[in-house]
Amino acid sequence: MIQSPRPLDTDVHLSWSSYDTRDALTAGVVAAVRECIEDAVAAQGRATIALSGGKTPVPILERLVALPLPWSAVTIVPSDDRIVPISDALSNAGMLVRVFGRSGARVVPLVGEVAERQEAGRRADAVLHRLEWPLDLVWLGMGADGHTASIFAGADLEHALMPPPGVRAVGVRPDPLPPEAPVDRVTLTATAIAEARRCIVVLEGAKKREVLERAASEGVHSAYVIGRVLGGMSSPPAVHWVA
Ligand code: 6PG
Repeated sequence: MIQSPRPLDTDVHLSWSSYDTRDALTAGVVAAVRECIEDAVAAQGRATIALSGGKTPVPILERLVALPLPWSAVTIVPSDDRIVPISDALSNAGMLVRVFGRSGARVVPLVGEVAERQEAGRRADAVLHRLEWPLDLVWLGMGADGHTASIFAGADLEHALMPPPGVRAVGVRPDPLPPEAPVDRVTLTATAIAEARRCIVVLEGAKKREVLERAASEGVHSAYVIGRVLGGMSSPPAVHWVA
C-alpha cells in the first residue's frame, strides 16, 4: 500500500536513536536494516532497499553484509548516484558492488552510460520502474548543508521535491557543486522516498544534528532540503546519530 504523503505540515517529529560510539551506531543501524530485510522477505519473499552514498554508510554496510541474511532475495539500489562510470571512485553503485558483490544480493545501478543529467534521470527512473515498488527501505544520509540523497539546492530542486506523478528519479545539478563530488547526479525523488515502507536517516556530528533538528522543526517551509523532504512524509523516519 503506497502511503499518500502527509498533508504539507511543519514540525516533523523525528524518533532519534543517539549512540555513544560509532560502534554502537553501527550495531544499531545494522539491527534496523536487518529487521527490515527479514520482515520484507518473510512477508513477500523479497526485499528492495535503497542505500545512501557518501562515507558514513561504508563501515556499517561492511558489518551488515557479514550477517547470514537471505541475500539472494534482496535487491539493492543507491538512493542516489553521481553521473560517473561505475568504476569511478565517486560512484555510489561502485561502492555498493564492492561491499555486496559477493553476497548474492542484486545490486542495481541507477547510472549506466554517462549521459546529460535530465536523460540520466529518465534512465534512472526507468530502472526504478522495473523494480518491485514501493521500496521496503530508504536509507538517507545528510550533508552539512541539509541536502539528502542527491536532492540539492539549485535549478532542479523543485523537480526533485515535487516531480510529475509517478516519477521516481530525476537528474540534479547541485548548486553549488559539493567539493567532495563536484558532478551532476541522479536521485530518488522526494515522493519516491515518501512512498517507502520504512526510512532511516543516519548521520554523525553535532553540527549535522543541529541542522536536522532545525530542518525537522521547519518541515516543508525549511530552507534545508531535508526539511522539505521530511515534511512530505506520512510517517517520519527513524534517525540514528552519533556525536
Ligand atoms: C551522496 C549521498 C549524500 C550523503 C551525504 C552525507 O551521494 O553524496 O547520497 O546524500 O549521504 O552527503 O555524506 P557523508 O556520509 O559522506 O557525510
